[in-house]
Amino acid sequence: MPVVKILPSILGADLGNLEAACKTCVSAGADGIHVDVMDGHFVPNLAYGSGTVAMVDRVVDTHLNVHLMITHPLDHAEAFIRAGSDTLSVHIEAEGDIAGLLPRIRALGARPGIVLNPDTPLSRVLPVVDTVEEVLFMTVFPGFGGQSFIADAMPGIAELRAQYPGLDIAVDGGLNRETCRVAREAGANVFHIGSHLFRASDMAEEVALIRAALQ
Ligand code: DX5
Ligand code: ZN
Repeated sequence: MPVVKILPSILGADLGNLEAACKTCVSAGADGIHVDVMDGHFVPNLAYGSGTVAMVDRVVDTHLNVHLMITHPLDHAEAFIRAGSDTLSVHIEAEGDIAGLLPRIRALGARPGIVLNPDTPLSRVLPVVDTVEEVLFMTVFPGFGGQSFIADAMPGIAELRAQYPGLDIAVDGGLNRETCRVAREAGANVFHIGSHLFRASDMAEEVALIRAALQ
């Protein structure tokens, strides 16, 4: 199984001081920062744009994992890569030629990722797995931080892990010490964690605890 990676999702950060929040993630020993992008259409909420990605890229030197929850990713992928995305993940449920977009993301210099919602069957993403670096299973319906973990994706994670021992398999939504362990047991190795890490009194301690528990 590939190495465990823990990435705080800055949707859970204090917007009043996003720069400090990004620096806290890095000094806490996180493996990168997860940036949520929402268009108010694919999901019923708005969050962050390419300007935010550029700001994060300017203030910290870490891996930026950008999660596009937008209906038309083909129109915006390039701007997000130019802004500094290191991994750019798009939903299989979005509109347009998503299979065709993934190699374009790679050609533009980012690692392509594919994301699936809790009610989307694994079979929808299998045809593109060979073209991505990360498969991200949503463990909540996307749109908001602070929701409860949905375990429906666990069998799909286990099935994919059996076929792809070296692939980055990620989870996002409702993660805490216990649900990270559940996802890890299923086969996930990348953990995008929002409110749990930003609510912790000491993020570094929490990252270390979770990492130790998942080894
Ligand atoms: C949900 C977002 C998540 C969110 C996770 O739509 O994609 O990245 O920030 O937040 P928590 O960990 O609070 O569920
Ligand atoms: Zn996300």
